[in-house]
Amino acid sequence: MNKDTKHIINEPQVLETAVETVEEEEKLFNSLRASDWDEFIGQEKIKESLHIAITAAKKRGEAMEHTLLYGPPGLGKTTLAHLIAKGMGSNIRVTSGPAIERAGDLAAILTSLEPHDILFIDEIHRLSKVVEETLYPAMEDFALDMVIGKGPSARTLRLELPQITIIGATTRIGMVSSPLRDRFGVIHRLSFYTPEELSQIIKRAAKKLKVPIDQEEVTQLSKRARGTPRIALKLLKRVRDVTEVHGQGKVTKELLSQTLDLLEVDPLGLDDSDRRLLLTIIDKFNGGPVGIETLAATISEDIGTIEEVIEPYLMQVGFLKRTSRGRVVTESAYLHLGKPAPSLTEQKSLFEK
Ligand SMILES: Nc1ncnc2c1ncn2[C@@H]1O[C@H](COP(=O)(O)OP(=O)(O)OP(=O)(O)O)[C@@H](O)[C@H]1O
Ligand SMILES: [Mg+2]
Repeated sequence: MNKDTKHIINEPQVLETAVETVEEEEKLFNSLRASDWDEFIGQEKIKESLHIAITAAKKRGEAMEHTLLYGPPGLGKTTLAHLIAKGMGSNIRVTSGPAIERAGDLAAILTSLEPHDILFIDEIHRLSKVVEETLYPAMEDFALDMVIGKGPSARTLRLELPQITIIGATTRIGMVSSPLRDRFGVIHRLSFYTPEELSQIIKRAAKKLKVPIDQEEVTQLSKRARGTPRIALKLLKRVRDVTEVHGQGKVTKELLSQTLDLLEVDPLGLDDSDRRLLLTIIDKFNGGPVGIETLAATISEDIGTIEEVIEPYLMQVGFLKRTSRGRVVTESAYLHLGKPAPSLTEQKSLFEK
C-alpha cells in the first residue's frame, strides 16, 4: 500500500481516494511532468550545464554525452532525462537496472537503437555485474563485445553500435561502481527545492489540474513538501480530493489543514522514516553521537538508504549533523519533535537530585 494512503483508511468519506493504485498516481505525475525546459523550475546550474552539453553535441552533430543524474527520490531525474531527449530531438527508451536481467537483454535493447537515441536507465545502481560490464564498451566505443561459443573455442565478436547516449539515474550514488561512474561525461546531483520553487511547481500543477487555490495555501503546501516536487504534487492531489469530497470547489485554509492532519504531515514535511531516525537517536542514544552501523541496525534500515535518502533532508533542515564520532541530533530537532533538549534534561536531573 502506498505510504500516504494508509493514514486515510479510517476516514470513510475519502476512502475512494485511498484505494487508488500507485500506477494511477504515476500516471498523474506523468501528466504533470514538465514537458518543456521553462516548466522545469529550479536546479539552475544543472539546467545551464545541460543546455551547454546539448548545444555543443548538436553543433558537432554528435550524440549527447553520457549523463548520470543522482539525488534523493522525487527531485526530477526522470523529468530531466526526458527534457534532454527533447532538447536533442532524440528518441528516448526507458528501462531500469533491475529490468535488464541478462547481458542479452541489454544487447537486444542497444542493437535496436538509432543514432543519437537515448537509453534512460533508472536505478542504474541495480544493474548486475555482467550487464554492467556489457555496458562499458557500449558507452566507451559504441560497441558490443559478444562471446561466441564456449570453452577453448570461444571467441569474442565485436559488434558496432550507433552513437547513442546513456542517461543513468540513481538515488544511491554510493552503489554505482567507479568504473561505471567514470564512463559518464556529465554527472549531476539534484538538490532539494526551496519553498518558493515548490510554490511555482504547485501553482502550475494546480492550474493544470484545475484546482482553485490561493497563494497562502500554496505557500503552506510548499513548506510541507520536504523540498521535493513529487511530495508537493502528492499533497496537492490529496487536497484536491478532500476539496472535491468536503468542499465547495475551492481549497480553503480549513480543508488544507484537514488534509494535512489526515495525512499526518509534519509542519516541515518530515515523514515516518525521518521521525523514526531522529527519535531513535534521541530516545536510544541520548541524542548521539551514534555510529551509522549501530543506527542502521537499530532502525533496520541499510546504511546507504540512511546516508543517501533519509539524511540529506534532515541535514538540510539542520536537524542532524554528521560528526567524526557519529550522528548527532541538533537542539532544533528536539524542539521540533517536542522533546526536551539534552541540556535541559540534564539540568532537570541535576535539579531533582
Ligand atoms: N524542477 C521541477 N519543476 C517542475 N516539476 C518537477 C520538477 N522536478 C520534478 N517535478 C515533478 O515532480 C514529479 C517527480 O519527478 P521525477 O519523476 O522526475 O523525479 P525522480 O527524481 O525521477 O524521482 P524518483 O527518484 O522517485 O524516480 C514529476 O511529476 C515532475 O514533473
Ligand atoms: Mg524517476
